[in-house]
Amino acid sequence: MCETIKVGILGLGKYLPEKILTNKDLEKMVDTTDEWIVSRSGIRERRIAREDEATSDMATEAAKRALAAAKLSAQDIDLIIVATITPDMFFPATACLVQQKIGARTVPAFDISVACSGFIYGMAIAKQFIASGVYKHALIIASEKLSSITDWSDRSTCVLFGDGAGAAVLGPVEHGGILSISLGADGKQGDLIKLPAGGSRIPATKKSIDDKLHFIKMNGSELFKHAVRIMADAALDATQPIGVKAEDIKMVIPHQANIRILNAAAKRMGLSEDKIYLNIDKYGNMSAASSAVALVEAVESGRIKRGDKILLDAFGGGLTWGAMVIEW
Ligand code: ACO
Repeated sequence: MCETIKVGILGLGKYLPEKILTNKDLEKMVDTTDEWIVSRSGIRERRIAREDEATSDMATEAAKRALAAAKLSAQDIDLIIVATITPDMFFPATACLVQQKIGARTVPAFDISVACSGFIYGMAIAKQFIASGVYKHALIIASEKLSSITDWSDRSTCVLFGDGAGAAVLGPVEHGGILSISLGADGKQGDLIKLPAGGSRIPATKKSIDDKLHFIKMNGSELFKHAVRIMADAALDATQPIGVKAEDIKMVIPHQANIRILNAAAKRMGLSEDKIYLNIDKYGNMSAASSAVALVEAVESGRIKRGDKILLDAFGGGLTWGAMVIEW
C-alpha cells in the first residue's frame, strides 16, 4: 500500500482521579512497607477513582482535554478507539459510551484489550486509517480503573496498580509524525498476568467470587524477566528498520510497570537512564493509561521539543508489546 499521508499527534489530554493512595496508606491495609514498595517498584503513591467514577468517565475527561489541545471538536472525530482491560461493562464498548458522552458523530467506536500495550496498539490501528486516507481524525484513549479488579488483601499486587486515563488525537501532519511501529504478542505467556473469571471460561458464580477469581493474578518475578527482554527487543524492532540509533532518541516514554524493569531495559537498549521518562512514583501501573499519561506529562514538562524523536515502548498482559517512533 502506498502511504502518502503523514500521521502525527495533534493533541493530548489526561485525567487522574483526585484520591491519592500512598504507600503509608497501604501499610495500614496489608503487610507491607513504604521502603519495600519504593525499592522494589519505584512507586510512592497511586490515584484511585471514586466508586461512582467508571473507565468511560475518566476516558471522557481525557478525550475532551485532548480535543481542546488539538483545537478540534468531537464532531471532527472520525474514529474512536478505547484501550482498556477495565471497560465499564463487557458491552456496549466503552468507546461507544465515550462517543455519546463527548457528543461525537456516529463514527466507528470500539475497544481493544491488549492490556498495557493498548495505547500503542490503538495509535497503530488509527494510523493505518489516517495514512490511507480513510479517516482524517482519530481519538485514541487509554483508560483504566484497575482498582476495580485489584485484590486489596493481596500485597503482591495491590501495591502496584492505579487508575487514570490518557488520550491522543491523531491526524495528518506536514512533518514527522509516526515514523515506525512494532507490535507483537505471545499467547504462550498469557498465564503470567490475567483476570481468570467473569468471561465465558469461568462466568461469575458465588464460588468464583469466593475464590477471588475476579481479581488480577500475577506471577511478578517471571513477568519481570520477560518484560526487560521484550521492551528492549520491541525498541530495536521499531528503530532499526528506519535507521534510528539509541543516540538519536531524545526520550523513551515507556509503560510504567516497575522502575527496575525500565532501568534494566534502558541498559539493554544502550540508553542512559535519564532518557527514560518516569512518573511511576506518582501513579503506579495504570496499564494502557500509563504510557498515555507519561506521554502527556513528558510533553507538558517541556522536555520534548519539535523535531525530537521519541520512542513509546510498552509490554503487558497477553503477553503483548508495542513500540513506536514518533518525530515530534
Ligand atoms: N510488601 C512486602 N513484601 C512483599 C510484598 C509487599 N507488597 N509483595 C511481595 N512481598 C514479598 C514476597 O512475599 C517475597 O517474600 P519471600 O521471599 O519471603 O517469599 C519477597 O517479597 C520477594 O518477592 P518477589 O515477588 O520475588 O519480589 P520482586 O523483587 O520480584 O518484586 C514485583 C515484586 C515488584 C511485583 C516485581 O516482580 C515486578 O514488578 N514484576 C513485574 C510486574 C509487572 O510488570 N506487572 C505488570 C505487567 S502487565 C500489566 O501491567 C497489566
